[in-house]
Amino acid sequence: MLQEYNPKNKNIFIHVNGELLPRDQAKVSVFDSIVQNGDGVWEGLRVYPEGIVCYDKHLTRLQEGAHALSYEGVPTKEEIKKAIKETLDANGMNNDTHIRLTLTRGDKVTSGMDARLNQSGCCLIVLAEWKKKVYDFSKGIRAISSSIRRSIPAFLDSKIHHNNMLSLVIAKIHANIAGYDAAVMLDERGFVAELNDTNLFMLKGDTVFTPFAHACLPGITRQTFIDLLKENKMKVQERDLSLVEFINADLVFATGTNGEITPVTEMDGREIKCNMKFLEKIKNLFESKLSSLCEPL
Ligand SMILES: Cc1ncc(COP(=O)(O)O)c(C=O)c1O
Repeated sequence: MLQEYNPKNKNIFIHVNGELLPRDQAKVSVFDSIVQNGDGVWEGLRVYPEGIVCYDKHLTRLQEGAHALSYEGVPTKEEIKKAIKETLDANGMNNDTHIRLTLTRGDKVTSGMDARLNQSGCCLIVLAEWKKKVYDFSKGIRAISSSIRRSIPAFLDSKIHHNNMLSLVIAKIHANIAGYDAAVMLDERGFVAELNDTNLFMLKGDTVFTPFAHACLPGITRQTFIDLLKENKMKVQERDLSLVEFINADLVFATGTNGEITPVTEMDGREIKCNMKFLEKIKNLFESKLSSLCEPL
């Protein structure tokens, strides 16, 4: 799905390193670690009239990623929330908004890779934009498997939501060239990990399956759906799953904060069954729970 420029975002204010700046002045230094080394962690948050969905969980994942990467001067949750509130207030946003929250290792005293060159703490960026949910639920998405493998902890642990995203970007380029919406990424053994930007689930018989979070981002929406299925006495299991199992499933769907839930209708040129009744049911369960998942600003 190709996102489009929304003219409503022309004059937005963006929080960069403690300052609220108009869009055309919102910049990081060329010495910032994100420019030098792709060294940052990020979250995608959605704003609803009731607040931000799973707010605390997103901030925890950001801070834990920063801790795992030995960032210094990581802002507290209160400081991050203050920056987010200031940004949303400055733009009059309280719905249909996506926030790209980024924390970089910050400026280096000279260009290089060594983290000891970072002597002034992290840089926090709050980019809030007017944005509708990215996927069209009624159409679903078509996916194709990529030759690029999703990283396992032996290389770069997918549990860190980092900005070192080139493997995902290349997989998405493969999907674009092939005329598909998304890339299915496998782990190093050939089992399905996730799509390039969302987590995957499949239904077979009466059980919903999802890959272990060994080689995928442990998505917050993924966990919400696992909990929701369990609360509603439906069978759900994490296990190794192959492409063949996905292709022959009764339903495949993708989850993520920015698209919530969407069916995957085709994989590698094979049409996938779509148990619409089941999909509608869990979508409705999610929507009825949404306001209780939101934390007011
Ligand atoms: C690679 C990848 N997988 C899955 C997701 C979905 O995660 P969440 O449900 O936490 O938004 C994202 C979101 O950024 C992602 O980048």
